[in-house]
Amino acid sequence: MDMRLLVLGGTEFLGRHLVDEALDAGHDVTIFHRGNHSSHRSGDVEERLGDRYTDRAGLMTGEWDAVVDTSGYIPSNVAAVAGELSGRAGHYSFVSSVSAYADQSGVGFDESRPLLDPPEHEPPPDEYGSMYGELKAGCERSAVSGFDGPVCISRPGLIVGPWDATDRFTYWVRRADLPGPMLIPDSSAAPLRTVVDARDYSQLLLACAADGRSGAANVVDPDPYAFVDFLEAACAVAGRAPDLVEVSESFLVQHQVVPWEELPFWIPSGHEKVGMLAPGAELARSWGLVCRPVSATIFATLEWDRARRADVPQLPRKLTLERERELLELWAIDGAS
Ligand SMILES: NC(=O)c1ccc[n+]([C@@H]2O[C@H](COP(=O)([O-])OP(=O)(O)OC[C@H]3O[C@@H](n4cnc5c(N)ncnc54)[C@H](OP(=O)(O)O)[C@@H]3O)[C@@H](O)[C@H]2O)c1
Repeated sequence: MDMRLLVLGGTEFLGRHLVDEALDAGHDVTIFHRGNHSSHRSGDVEERLGDRYTDRAGLMTGEWDAVVDTSGYIPSNVAAVAGELSGRAGHYSFVSSVSAYADQSGVGFDESRPLLDPPEHEPPPDEYGSMYGELKAGCERSAVSGFDGPVCISRPGLIVGPWDATDRFTYWVRRADLPGPMLIPDSSAAPLRTVVDARDYSQLLLACAADGRSGAANVVDPDPYAFVDFLEAACAVAGRAPDLVEVSESFLVQHQVVPWEELPFWIPSGHEKVGMLAPGAELARSWGLVCRPVSATIFATLEWDRARRADVPQLPRKLTLERERELLELWAIDGAS
């Protein structure tokens, strides 16, 4: 059944894919955003401009079957928005994060794990980063208490695919497309259980809205694959033979490679956030999450990245080819000793 869908956001990454998937499925889509990022589907959606913190006049009229909130970061604001949409929307979906959990350690943890305590004092919206997890936890509560209908909370790990501004997945996809031996961390056998393709996630969000789903679920690929399988798939999609050089964790630590950011997906063992690599996703599977093969995500990401590569020759905050080469030379000299 076609839905009238309101996306609070819809122009950058997850929301952008959600808009595409919803339009492809025949839904009527309204997007609400400030206009700082223009919509790639402006002719196909109803666009309402406003700032969710300072100017919500654009949200004060209209009725929708479902709302998906991709842009909520501040609990009091989510409460206000959810309250204002109550009675005019049938379902509210809040995009949270696995960062909302109080404990990030362990493998395969489910949704019963306690969340962080929301902060006593909220920061201004543009300074939410340092309290991201605490604030997301508070936003979840606000959505549930503020909206007068079913509320669905999803807690994604790492959302990946074209338009991902974090470049974490893209780093490896691009690296596999470039010549020369590739430095990889020695955790390469670990299942990579934190990833979900934005398009698969969007499909789940639409299914949850259509089913009137309530509750909270982790959203990552429920069928994990090893990191090295991902790298080999990236090389295969790029048409290159894998030339992977595994270096030790202690070597990376000694040379101050920044975990997760400079070398995405690498989190040193024993690190308190190591569980981020492996939340459980059985509930999301039962809700209908179906993930495409990773090679399909790699293919789409590579196509997108190749098209922008001249404009973005170096991915911000990621290992450069020069530094990688230096590290590989050092590893060859004394790494194995
Ligand atoms: N990326 C990940 O790996 C990851 C992991 C876990 C959780 N998440 C969560 O997933 C969501 C990702 O969303 P996305 O950024 O990709 O969604 P998106 O809907 O594609 O982009 C964010 C949208 O919010 C709008 N926006 C930003 N500030 C606004 C404001 N003050 N008022 C009104 N509109 C505003 C932006 O448009 P304008 O700029 O035009 O206003 C844009 O359309 C976030 O909630 C994030 O916390 C992401």
